[in-house]
Amino acid sequence: MASFLRQAAYLVWWQVRGWFGRRAPLQSVIFILDQCNLRCRHCSVYAIDRPRIKTLAQIRKELQYCYDLGSRFVDFEGGELYLWKDRQGGRTCTIDDVVDFAHEIGFWNVTITTNAQLPFDHSHADHIWVSMDGIGKWHDDIRGEGTFARMEENIRRYKCAQPKARVCVNMVINNRNYPCLDQTLEYVQASPYIDSISVNFHTPFSETEELYLEPSVRNRIIDRLIDCKHRGYPIVNTVSGLRAMRIADGRTACTNRSCWITNFIFSDGSRSPKCMGYTHDVCDRCGFSMGGEMRSVWLLKPDTLLAGMRLRIRN
Ligand SMILES: C[S@@+](CC[C@H](N)C(=O)[O-])C[C@H]1O[C@@H](n2cnc3c(N)ncnc32)[C@H](O)[C@@H]1O
Repeated sequence: MASFLRQAAYLVWWQVRGWFGRRAPLQSVIFILDQCNLRCRHCSVYAIDRPRIKTLAQIRKELQYCYDLGSRFVDFEGGELYLWKDRQGGRTCTIDDVVDFAHEIGFWNVTITTNAQLPFDHSHADHIWVSMDGIGKWHDDIRGEGTFARMEENIRRYKCAQPKARVCVNMVINNRNYPCLDQTLEYVQASPYIDSISVNFHTPFSETEELYLEPSVRNRIIDRLIDCKHRGYPIVNTVSGLRAMRIADGRTACTNRSCWITNFIFSDGSRSPKCMGYTHDVCDRCGFSMGGEMRSVWLLKPDTLLAGMRLRIRN
């Protein structure tokens, strides 16, 4: 309880400070490698010629930097985090050591995103986001043959090893997989191993523009998601966050308005208050749901604040 009150007080202070112009990130995204074991249609990470892989020492420095800026939530990203390794003091460190270190520094909540092609039964993360771009052949069409079956099995193993852990799958909707959205929601609701689903839309980085979903289809899907959420499907996106993802007049409603709430450290070590969408000039067509959720946090939308507290704050 004391820790909950301390965290709540920090958040109030953070917001008030922001109103007075002293804005600081609350969440950090740290990319620790850009090596991957898949070649997904919608992602260009695998195309990087010489993948960069950070050392534990470098990640530690970056974590401390983010914490000192005021950030209290960290998401590790890649590449595939379960490929990351570093030798330290005669021992091989893995992503679990990175997560432990983030907790030791004082981050309240540590999340990782994985394609679940390698086992993650003993993960130390507070939350795991598993990328799932549809079910069965729909997922395999985006991520490669056999990936759905391997993902299912690794999720099952994780939940058997850590029954209290929560698994959220993360679907990126594009113009190939959108027809399977309803089936995917049914699958998640029925699964004994998956707790919830978060939905993003394809962001058209170069080489992947052809997957961009037409705005009118995207807006219809947003209405459908809001309806399904009201009907009890376990969708993590909040109604306010989803509304902020609508496209009107050629741009996403939340376009780059509160994205400063997250800071980024990329795999080449560069530090930025902006996501890579900004440097690639795709903010108007951004599909990352985090943009809508951050906008709604900043506007103090009660549904988003409540969901954020439930997801991110530990008692
Ligand atoms: C870059 S991946 C890295 C983590 C891990 N290898 C995986 O596949 O989950 C992180 C997340 O970004 C999503 N992603 C990749 N390209 C995207 C795009 N163009 N638009 C929206 N999301 C994208 C992936 O589906 C995944 O959920």
